[in-house]
Amino acid sequence: MAAGGAGRGASLVEAIRMLYLLSRKLLFRLDPEAAHGVAMRVIAGVGALPPLRAAVAAAYAVPDAEPVEAFGLRFPNRVGLAAGYDKDGEGWRGLAALGFGHIEVGTVTPEPQPGNPRPRVFRLESQRSLINRMGFPGRGAAYVAKQLRGPRPAGLVLGVNIGKQKSTPLDEAVHDYQELIDVFAPLADYLAVNISSPNTPGLRRLQEPGFLAGLLGAVASRRGELADRLGRPVPVLERRYAVASFADFSAMLARFVDECQAQRGRDLRLASACFGAAGPVSGNCIRMTNLPWRLDAAVIAAQFGIGRVRLVNDFEAAAVGVEALGPGDITTLQRGEPLPQAARVVIGAGTGLGVAYALPQGKRYRIIAGEGGHAGFAPADDEQMRLWQALHAQLGRVSVEHVVSGAGLARIYEFLCAGLPQATASRESVRSEGAAAISRLALEQNDPLACRALDLFIACYGAAAGDHALAVSARGGVYVAGGMARKILGRLAAGGFMAAFNAKGAHTHLNGRMPVHVVTTERLGLLGAALIAARG
Ligand SMILES: Cc1cc2nc3c(=O)[nH]c(=O)nc-3n(C[C@H](O)[C@H](O)[C@H](O)COP(=O)(O)O)c2cc1C
Repeated sequence: MAAGGAGRGASLVEAIRMLYLLSRKLLFRLDPEAAHGVAMRVIAGVGALPPLRAAVAAAYAVPDAEPVEAFGLRFPNRVGLAAGYDKDGEGWRGLAALGFGHIEVGTVTPEPQPGNPRPRVFRLESQRSLINRMGFPGRGAAYVAKQLRGPRPAGLVLGVNIGKQKSTPLDEAVHDYQELIDVFAPLADYLAVNISSPNTPGLRRLQEPGFLAGLLGAVASRRGELADRLGRPVPVLERRYAVASFADFSAMLARFVDECQAQRGRDLRLASACFGAAGPVSGNCIRMTNLPWRLDAAVIAAQFGIGRVRLVNDFEAAAVGVEALGPGDITTLQRGEPLPQAARVVIGAGTGLGVAYALPQGKRYRIIAGEGGHAGFAPADDEQMRLWQALHAQLGRVSVEHVVSGAGLARIYEFLCAGLPQATASRESVRSEGAAAISRLALEQNDPLACRALDLFIACYGAAAGDHALAVSARGGVYVAGGMARKILGRLAAGGFMAAFNAKGAHTHLNGRMPVHVVTTERLGLLGAALIAARG
């Protein structure tokens, strides 16, 4: 953890450090477990008082933390708190304020239990360490679940570590874990199945193949059922591959299947699969737009022995993926007044501009992933009018994608450069690297021309999103996806995007009611493909 900033934050950190040094002597006079109890009560107190919690969180903010994506979760930084400290979920809000990116609550057992007889925690002062043999004392699942409900600090990843009741015989332990999965899956981002504590008699025997196969089988099947109930898939293995390393799609899929089998230690039998790929779908085939690859569902099914194979356009997968997004996967630009069962728009600038509409149909959505990116570019002011003229001279008809895409951002930059006398180093780097160089120059170096280009791009993006939203009265939400939005999130949230989104003349009040979110996870398409596969 790093103490953030100067001024008030730094002095609060210093005050907390002084308080700790003063109280340390006192705490060390107490029995170690009692000292832990006192510390927990203080931390829980901080967590329960929002203004104090906010001040502590500001003081301990982690500047320049690099988020990490693992197992489908986005961890805001690399430091988390392991299980055992906050056994009953009483202090996690206060602990989050100290800067932990993730917190694992527990170990939690189904019912309250006292744990091993005291004393059971021993200080080794000279070695600055501790021996613990607590044996899962705790207040039980129902109590902990209550502590975990309610608002969550933004970005925090919350895990729950689950363990069996001491009194449960080993051959019935599966039921304890299943029960705990049911309670905590809706509340936690991940669950850790504890079969390693040495302090519950026999627990480690669950690691023996005879027990483990049954336990993992039961956990996996419960996970499948929950994925259906919660409407979000729970992954077993995720991999990211560079397409350039493979001759074709089958070679890539073969690698994934091999890795899955190695991880599971047995053959993989796939009942159903869905693949999203960038390209038009025709029949059961996709010819990819930017790769010489052709995917054929029948060939894939036969080659890999998969019961059912669906191929979908990547933007269709993204539109379905919206149904599986969690609160940590989006940043809201406009709350609006959401309506249930209303149309949604997913729009995403990247290599091109993808647009999909999700229209309610019964309890689900029908996805229309058309060619919205090729709608005409509608200039909204004089500068955009001049941009249109410049592009029209080069391209003839100007589509939104000509402006709102990676190549579009580079075109905007060139348009702003026109008439400027000399070639600059920045201009050279934009010529060779394109959009990535413009956002880097704008966001890291505050280059004036790159900043203007990015802001003009954002205004055009907002206006286009607003037009599509208007077309279907998107009170179900507008989801801004695609790689570009994530990378320029700060600037998107600065106001230009929403101003352009809402500037719809007589219809401004309609757009103002539409919820608008930026999708911050890279897994939107993956989530959608998994849902489609699960639904068959
Ligand atoms: C007092 C104490 C209680 C713990 N209780 C649990 C527990 O309930 N569940 C668990 O999975 N691990 C428990 N652990 C283990 C920690 O989660 C962690 O794995 C261990 O302390 C090693 O990490 P460290 O080197 O950062 O301390 C406990 C550790 C300590 C010191």
